[in-house]
Amino acid sequence: MSRLTRRLADHYVMAVIDAAIAGRPLVRVRGAPPPDLGYVMAAAWARVRETPGYLTEREARFIMAAIALAPADGANVEIGSFRGRSTVGLAYVARHYDLGPVIAIDPHTCPSPTDPVLREQETTFDEFLANLERAGVRDAVEPRRAYSCDVARDWRDPIRFLWIDGDHSYEGARADVRLFTPRLAPGAIVAMHDVLGTWEGTLRVFDQEVLASPDFGPAGFSGSIAWAQYRPHAGRALTRRLQHVALALPLRRLIPIAARGKAEFGQEKLIRLHGADKWAYKFWRTLIPHGLVDPPSLARALRLP
Ligand SMILES: C[S@@+](CC[C@H](N)C(=O)[O-])C[C@H]1O[C@@H](n2cnc3c(N)ncnc32)[C@H](O)[C@@H]1O
Repeated sequence: MSRLTRRLADHYVMAVIDAAIAGRPLVRVRGAPPPDLGYVMAAAWARVRETPGYLTEREARFIMAAIALAPADGANVEIGSFRGRSTVGLAYVARHYDLGPVIAIDPHTCPSPTDPVLREQETTFDEFLANLERAGVRDAVEPRRAYSCDVARDWRDPIRFLWIDGDHSYEGARADVRLFTPRLAPGAIVAMHDVLGTWEGTLRVFDQEVLASPDFGPAGFSGSIAWAQYRPHAGRALTRRLQHVALALPLRRLIPIAARGKAEFGQEKLIRLHGADKWAYKFWRTLIPHGLVDPPSLARALRLP
């Protein structure tokens, strides 16, 4: 065996050992999810489940798949971390695939009128850090204890994954989309929480700023999450317009119903619907597919032309 062949063979054996230790796949089919994504998401979910906050398993699985599969380079940004439930899932997956840290933006004072209620607690910051430590992902998160608009002012880097779960008011959610969209890299994913969750503001913002924009391509829902892929000008194509309109039509029926909802304050702040509104909301929402998204179909949808 020549020296070169021996060195290549050594290299290969080391790569196999490295990948096995790190749990990384050695072979990846272009455009397909990494073969170990299912295991990684299961391990991440085990940590998310133990972290307090507001995210169902279906939603956690969606954002974890999305951060892994977004076909773009750049930063991973979270707006609204609270006690760290979504942060834990995102950070676990991002670190496993070497996708960079999660920039977790939150003043940790629950400042908006749509926020969870902190009661006598002044801040969630210490609890947030403790939850990241407990989940073993502290090193994969860069906390920014600030309002999203203040971070956006100096932000210049491209973004590959943007998770919006901060101020759910119309003005707040619209500012987040408008301020950060110019920083999205082509192929990036923007995902907004609580759009199908009876918040009038987030519903209107997703309709007006994302579905009506020519700069978003594939779009959909999972649980209450609405997501879209940033593809400048792709939204002008007829098939894409039709897809956006098919989502927007039932979505728009939800907006006036959500606007009549009554805010109820508990540990969690909820908008409750009553009587006929409750049933009407359910009816229109069934016309919007929002089930569990499986990673292979998401990867196919996100593949860039
Ligand atoms: C619904 S909670 C986030 C839940 C969290 N993602 C989870 O998985 O449990 C909303 C959070 O957004 C934060 N927030 C509100 N307005 C904000 C803003 N303008 N910029 C950044 N964070 C904001 C609040 O402090 C609160 O912690």
